[in-house]
Formats: sequence, C-alpha cells, structure tokens
Amino acid sequence: MSLEDVIPTAMPLAALYRRVRDYVPAVEWPVHAGDIEAILRLKAERNAVVLAHNYQTPEIFHTVADIVGDSLALAREAVSTAADVILLAGVHFMAETAKLLNPDKVVLIADTRAGCSLAESITGADVRLLRERYPGVPVVTYVNSSAEVKAESDICCTSANAQKVVESLGVPKVIMLPDEYLAQNVAKRTAVEIIAWKGHCEVHERFTPNDIAELRNSYPGVTVLAHPECPPAVVAVADFTGSTAGMIDYVGKNKPARVALITECSMSDNVAIAHPELEFVRPCNLCPHMKRTTLPKIRRALETMTHEVTVPAPLAARARAAVERMLALT
Ligand code: 13P
Ligand code: SF4
Repeated sequence: MSLEDVIPTAMPLAALYRRVRDYVPAVEWPVHAGDIEAILRLKAERNAVVLAHNYQTPEIFHTVADIVGDSLALAREAVSTAADVILLAGVHFMAETAKLLNPDKVVLIADTRAGCSLAESITGADVRLLRERYPGVPVVTYVNSSAEVKAESDICCTSANAQKVVESLGVPKVIMLPDEYLAQNVAKRTAVEIIAWKGHCEVHERFTPNDIAELRNSYPGVTVLAHPECPPAVVAVADFTGSTAGMIDYVGKNKPARVALITECSMSDNVAIAHPELEFVRPCNLCPHMKRTTLPKIRRALETMTHEVTVPAPLAARARAAVERMLALT
C-alpha cells in the first residue's frame, strides 16, 4: 500500500491532523506539527523518502511516510525508489535490507538501538554450525535477521512468502530460522520438513490461546487475525493468519464489523484510520524497538544525515544474493 493511496501529497498540516486526530490529542499536535513540517521540507531538500513499517505510530505512518507496508513491501520499494536518501522508519534489520538493495544510496535509521529479538537470537557462526550439523540442507532465513546471518543463508523469506519460498527450493527438508513459531506455522501447511531455530518475537510470543478465548467471550462475533510470528496454538484459534500486509488486505476485502489484530499495537491504529466504519478490538502488545523511532528523531536524522546504516562489502554481496533470490521469486 503506497501512502499516496490514502494521502494526497502536499496535504496541508490541518488535513494531516484530521487523519490522526483520534490518536493524537489536540494538545500534542502543535509539538508534532513543527517536526512534521520540518521533515516534509527536509525530504524535499535531501531528495529523501521515508519508508515506514506498519508498526510505526499513526503520527509517523499517516503524515511523513512516503511508502508504508510490511517487510516484503518495504524491501520491494527500497529497490524501486529514485530517491538519494532512504530513511527507514522501522528497525535495524529493515534498514540493513534497504542498504543491501541500494548500495549506492544513503540509508538512515532514526535510532540505532531499534533492534529485534528475532534478529538478536542468532549469529552467522550459529548458521555455520547448523550447516555442519545438517549437511546439504538449504537455509531459509526470515528477513528479521542481521546481514551477517543473511550472508550465511541460501534464500530469505518474509512472513508473507515463507511457504512459497520453502517450497520453491524443491527439496524435502530445509532449515528455517530464526523464528521457531513462523517455522512451525509454515510446517503445518507444507509437506517440506522444517528444522527450526529457537528465536521468538518478543511481541507475538506473549499472545496465548486463552487471550483469544477471552476476546471471543467479551466481544461476540469478533474476527481474529493473527500474525504468523504468534505461537501455533494461537494461530490455530484465529480466523486468518498473515503478514501485516496480509491482515490489512483481509480487512479491506472482508470488512469484518468487529476485528482484532493479534499483533503490535500501532497496526490497529493505522488500519482503523483507513476503516473508521469497523470496530477494532485491541488486545495488542507494543514493540519497544519499533517505538524507538519518533518524529523528533526522524527530523534529527534528516537534519544531520545520521545514523547511516552500512554493511561491509564482501558480506553485503552474499546477504544481497539471499534477499534478491527471494525477491525474484515473489
Ligand atoms: P511483517 O510486516 O512482514 O508481517 O513483519 C512483522 C514484523 O514483526 C516486523 O518486525
Ligand atoms: Fe522484532 Fe517482533 Fe519487534 Fe517485529 S515486532 S521488530 S519481529 S521484536
């Protein structure tokens, strides 16, 4: 979903506020408005684009982002942008992926501490040990990983294309890392045997089947959409499972009158702005890493052209190959 689908470019500030007024108190808006004005000006001066993940807060997602989407969409858009500078409003692995695909562009992240529990669960050395243990078994790596880990992999995947990637290899067995639950959720849908790693998303691992049961009890008729980083027992009791973009598509096509997105908190806020007619029930968990990016930090990043994300060349070439192999497929 391009933001141009929902926000005409060069919208006046007052019109931007109307988009987010249910989520940004009027008393806070003047503070945001100064940053937003500066960011819009800086983007033009620097020929910069802001790529924002679906978990960014509404005042980022609905006012300064040029492109919004899931990890797959952001990787794709990173390839096609004509901008000189990409500011990745998301987490570090997303900025690294953008850099891998755009070695000649400047890629910025607003806060270098915006990590990810999945990316931090595994190192390149771990992947090499797995290869020794399972000789000849290809390694499918979720993009929620460092460039160092991608460089040791055969191909990458996202939550939107994981099954397709696994089956594209035409082998009976794959290693899929680092998300154990994503691997288990894919394993339920494919004949390919999957060897998983024990990484977990600290946001999605906290949801339980009991949460869903309580939700259905308190909100009769609710449609439950769960991200595949949730434990399989949660996915089993959901009505639909998909990446963040998959959930947005589901809501757009099916328009469930009452819906719960079992994922990060800002998702519901962002999707609810596009669908004010639907009731969003919010049993969400916050991602502390996604929340490190704020409007003042985006402004500062564009003012000072920091923090630049780089990947050493030999490692970048191998990591890029794994990402490009995925993009060629999907
Ligand atoms: P997607 O947006 O690709 O579904 O990823 C979710 C996520 O947890 C990203 O950090
Ligand atoms: Fe990582 Fe989970 Fe946060 Fe996404 S939501 S960045 S997978 S910790």
